[in-house]
Order: sequence, then structure tokens, then C-alpha cells
Amino acid sequence: MPGLFDRLRIGDIELNNRIVMAPMTRARADDRGVPSEMASTYYAQRASAGLMITEGAAPSAMGMGYIRTPGIYSDEHVRAWREVADAVHRRGGRIAMQLMHCGRISHPSLLLDGAIPVAPSAVQPKGGTYTNEGMKAHVMPRALERSEIPAVVNEFRQATARAFEAGFDSVDLHGGAGYLPMQFLSTSTNHRMDEYGGSVERRARFILEVLEAMTSVQGAQRIGINLSPEMPFNDIADDTPEETYAYVVKMIGNMGLAYLHVSPYGTTDYHALLRPLFKGPYLAGGGFDQAKGEAFLSDGRADAIVFGGMFIANPDLPERFRRGAPLAKADQATFYSGGAKGYIDYPSLDGQD
Ligand SMILES: Cc1cc2nc3c(=O)[nH]c(=O)nc-3n(C[C@H](O)[C@H](O)[C@H](O)COP(=O)(O)O)c2cc1C
Repeated sequence: MPGLFDRLRIGDIELNNRIVMAPMTRARADDRGVPSEMASTYYAQRASAGLMITEGAAPSAMGMGYIRTPGIYSDEHVRAWREVADAVHRRGGRIAMQLMHCGRISHPSLLLDGAIPVAPSAVQPKGGTYTNEGMKAHVMPRALERSEIPAVVNEFRQATARAFEAGFDSVDLHGGAGYLPMQFLSTSTNHRMDEYGGSVERRARFILEVLEAMTSVQGAQRIGINLSPEMPFNDIADDTPEETYAYVVKMIGNMGLAYLHVSPYGTTDYHALLRPLFKGPYLAGGGFDQAKGEAFLSDGRADAIVFGGMFIANPDLPERFRRGAPLAKADQATFYSGGAKGYIDYPSLDGQD
């Protein structure tokens, strides 16, 4: 059975190991969503991961939900992201771009002309988001008209094309954490009466259409998806999560996607439930350390392991695992603070950049 240091083929690409860096928002882009020059350094420092999945990038201006988060909907975005992809490839790494449309988890001050955030239904989330004027409570979102949905789906197609234009190896759909695709999927946020709401088949329709749009660009082999069943973050819940996620994964199971990444919450063993339904590389994430990761791989419960927080303070995480070296602890105060501190200043073991 394979271990963390064995190679893995996902879709069209070959990974040097099965240690995947989780998508992590770091809030270092500028006001127009252009990644900073530091982003190239940050990702290049971590290029020894078998695969890195970027922080969520908005597929359109309406997809923005936090200050200083990046986009992938303008030529300027493509140019800046190309620097990132090139820097990673120079180090022999592999990188997927995550598309994250925040939907209702946003605020008018983050959207063009103070637009009202969109969602499947007008259900106001509890909580708030960081804006240029500090923390602001979420507002009542606007329910997307039936006639608007094809254009939103098309934004994901265009963003996928732009990510490939920027040189990314794969593109990842953020289907979790209470953002737009999960808002369609979940009963607490989707009260629609049309063909995008109601039964699980209808609630899943948006996510399936988005995946089809994304796979139409360069084939399914270069597209992955991230799901987080029962994640309560962003005030979201589903009445029948096991049924919902089993249905979605069954529907995408034969699409030939590059991978399925699952980081579940709650008490159900979603890895046991979902892995058999997906015919392709299965990435397990959320709360893993090296030992648990090795155990999952050796039991055949996953094909690769996704590590999040550990990669922030340990840019050379695979080498630390290999040597059994101590792990540095990340400073939570600098997760989203902007600037170089807590971003590109964590040293590797041998002190190299
Ligand atoms: C600072 C930070 C930012 C995150 N941003 C994202 C994101 O943009 N997209 C996403 O899918 N998950 C995001 N996550 C969740 C991680 O991808 C991962 O699932 C989570 O950290 C659990 O893994 P861990 O226990 O190994 O850290 C974020 C997590 C952290 C710590």
C-alpha cells in the first residue's frame, strides 16, 4: 500500500508525493483582487508538496467575499497568477487554482457599485465579513433569478479558461464552506421552487452544471472538487447530509475528474461513505497529522492527504515529515493580516527560501 512519499497520478498530471497543500485564503491580494508579488514566493516556498491548491480565487467580481482575496476574471489577474504558476513550476511543483464564489457570504462594500450579494434564496447569514471598514454584518442576499443562473455557471467556465491560460495544472471547484455551490446544495440556504431547489437532485443541479462547464474547457482530467459535508461554518446546514453528499458524489463519480477532496465535519464517517462512490483519486483532509495520513493511505482510505494549517508555518512540510523534524506552529494573528509577516517569513529547515 502506498505512503505519503509515493507518487500519484491525478488526471493528466503526476505528483511527486501524496502530500497536498490545502486551499487557504491568505488575504494578500490588492483591492482589485490581483495577487501580490509575495504570492509567487509563498507558493514557490511550498512547492515540494505533491500538489498545492491555491487560496480561493473569485471567478467574477460578484464572487468576492473578503478583503484582499484574489480573483481570476481579468487579464491583470491572469498575468499575476502566471507569475505564481511559473515560480512553482520552476521548483518542479504542481499547482491547482481553486475557484471560490462566496455568494451570500459577502458584503456590498466588497462588490462592484455596492451590489447586493447573490444566493440561491434570500436567506441572511448570521455573522459578518471583513471589509475595508472593518467587520460588517452580512446583509440579506438577493435570490438569483432563474434566468441569471446560466451566466453565473458561465463565469466558472471563463475562470477555468483563465486559470489554464495562466499556466495552472488543474482547477479546483470550492464546493464547501458555505459558499455559493454549497448554498445551492444545502436545505438551510436553498428554498427555491424551480429546478434548482427542492429535492436533492434539484439542489445538486447547480454544482453539476458548474462542473460540466469547467470540464468543457480542457477535459475532466484537469478539474477537481472540494466538498465539506456538515461544515457549519458560514451558518449553513442540510437536513439530510448523508443523502445529499452520497448523491452528489455518485453523480460526479464517473465524470473522470482529476480528484475529489473531502474534509468532513460531524460524526458520520464520510470518507467511508463517499470514497467508494468516486472512481478516481480521493483526497482526504481536515485535522490530519503525518501518522494519521500514513494510516489512511496504508488502509486504502484515501489516495492522498491534504494538510492545511501545518503548511503555513512549515513551507518544507514533506521534508520535515521525512526527517521526523519538529513542526513550527503558525501564528493565527497573521493568517489574514496582509503583509510579509506570517506569510513568507517562515523558514525551511535548511534556511533556504
Ligand atoms: C487560514 C485558512 C484559510 C483557509 N481558506 C480556505 C479556502 O480559501 N478554501 C478552502 O477550500 N478551504 C480553506 N481553508 C480550509 C483548509 O483548506 C483545510 O480544509 C482546513 O485548514 C483543515 O485542514 P487542517 O486541519 O490540515 O488545517 C482554510 C483554512 C485556513 C487555516
